[in-house]
Formats: sequence, C-alpha cells, structure tokens
Amino acid sequence: MTSKGKYRILFVCLGNICRSPAAEGIFRAITDAHGMTDRFPADSAGTYSGHRGDLPDRRMRRAASARGYELTHRARPVSMSDFFDFDLIIAMDDSNFTDLMHLAPSVETSRKIKRMADYFTGHSFDYVPDPYYMGQDGFELVLDLLEDACKNLFETLAGQVQD
Ligand code: 4NP
Repeated sequence: MTSKGKYRILFVCLGNICRSPAAEGIFRAITDAHGMTDRFPADSAGTYSGHRGDLPDRRMRRAASARGYELTHRARPVSMSDFFDFDLIIAMDDSNFTDLMHLAPSVETSRKIKRMADYFTGHSFDYVPDPYYMGQDGFELVLDLLEDACKNLFETLAGQVQD
C-alpha cells in the first residue's frame, strides 16, 4: 500500500440490498471511529441490477439499526469502472466471486477480487449466506459475520499503512 494514499474498498453481493450495504455500513462505522474514512473509502454494489436505486432491505435496515448502523446506500450494479476505481473488491459468497471474476476486464483487475470469508476470524462459515429468504436469525447471523470480517479487514489494512 502506498503511503498517505486512499485505499478504496467495494463490497459486492447479488442484490446490493442486504449483505454488501451492511458490510459497507459496518466498515464505515469502524473507519469513522478511527478517523480513517478518508483513507479507506467504502462503497457497495450488486452483480444483479434489479434493485437499482433501492434502499437496503427493510429487515436488514432494522437489524443493522439495532446495532447502531444506519444503512442509507442506494443499490447499484457493479460497473466496469469499479475494477479500476477500487483497490479491493470483496465478494460475499462464491457465486458473487465467480461472477466478478468473469466480469473483470483484465488479469490485473481480477487480482483485486477477494472473498469476505478470507477475513473471518472465528466462524465455521466460509461465505456470507444470502439472508433474503431466511428469517430474522439470518440477518443477525449475517451481521455477526460482517462485524467480525470488517473488524479484521480494517485491522489488516490499517496495519499495512505506511506513514
Ligand atoms: P443480497 O440479497 O445479495 O445480500 O442483497 C439478495 C437480495 C435480493 C435478491 C437476492 C439476494 N433478489 O433476488 O431479489
């Protein structure tokens, strides 16, 4: 990582209304708490465009709000420019990962794509499950996984900063 530069992170799921906007909100809460949001700007997007312009799913907004995260992102699909504008592109599950790998315009940009599970520290899951057809427990599980991964992601990135 270059010194003093921005390091931009894009979280990606399918619809961009449940998992990835929650990841974006949690990660931003962590960077805000450390005064490092300018250094580590975060955004989110979906591989499916059907929810374009929508706020996050009401169930996710409610569950996130109860933990102190207000999710105001508007859904958008992944674009080609994302592969150049972001330094790290994090897929929520293997299906998102595979879709992103197919979309990536070059080998170099495909190297930016990682899995959220790469940052889990204490879970038996190896992906972030889609909560859309799950009950409230599913949303709580997703938030538990994302809080763990975002904390570790931030610590990993902050540890690489060279001032
Ligand atoms: P997400 O959840 O990928 O975490 O935003 C989903 C939301 C909507 C749909 C699928 C997944 N959908 O098919 O509409």
